[in-house]
Amino acid sequence: MDSPLINVMIKAAKKASRGLRRDFNELENLQVMTKGPANFVTAADIRTQNTIYDELSYAKPDWSFIMEESKPIRGSNPNSKFIIDPIDGTTNFMHGNPNFAISIAAEIDNKLEAALIYSPITDEMFIAERGKGAFLNDKRIRVASRKKLSESILITGIPHLGRGDIDLFLREMKILIPEVAGIRRSGSAALDLAWVAAGRYDAFWERGLASWDIAAGILMIKEAGGYVQGINGKDSDMWDGNIISGNEDILNTLIEKLEV
Ligand code: IPD
Ligand code: CA
Repeated sequence: MDSPLINVMIKAAKKASRGLRRDFNELENLQVMTKGPANFVTAADIRTQNTIYDELSYAKPDWSFIMEESKPIRGSNPNSKFIIDPIDGTTNFMHGNPNFAISIAAEIDNKLEAALIYSPITDEMFIAERGKGAFLNDKRIRVASRKKLSESILITGIPHLGRGDIDLFLREMKILIPEVAGIRRSGSAALDLAWVAAGRYDAFWERGLASWDIAAGILMIKEAGGYVQGINGKDSDMWDGNIISGNEDILNTLIEKLEV
């Protein structure tokens, strides 16, 4: 049985996704602004965020909000917060690539309680609640059990214009490419984590992410039986933004091989 909290999150994401699907089918009319080198925001990001915010703040008027497209909003209850990415994968979205998602996490007293990652075009709804497991469209999901790197598909981010450490990335690729079944780059960190949780990929790592990219995904992976940890010996902290995650065996192998 889903809790009232996750039900409110599902309602907000479903409502916001109707406008998103409409925008996706009319991309030629999309207004695009840029926040920095290769960092875009569309009118659709803002509209989606507003709809989600309206729904969630109506249900939880005292909660705080951390959202990609605005400054943090501090509610009268600073210990309960939603962490929201209205479109994770904005560049994909702008290019007519359906691999993007709404990501919503709920944190209470510094613990992730509920997570939602919704892909509006494929209608895949990933949800998780602390201690209750992770689900894709109501079916329980688990991380993959593959133990060998040679059978594994890894997913990561690739540095691009103004983002990331190109030399480090190339060093890591040189080590991994000869040893794995495949390496992918999807353009949505939230979906990458959801897909690791569902066992479609075996592990994910990326640096320089924001809390809204990964908060929901972190709980999703843990509730699917996987592990998440920070890069550079840090904890699996969403505020750090450098994470590596996956099933236990592949994660441990990767930690030995990468500069983490
Ligand atoms: C981006 C995606 C992408 C990751 C970038 C993020 P956005 O989020 O998650 O996969 O590589 O670092 O910024 O900008 O599309 O919300
Ligand atoms: Ca994002």
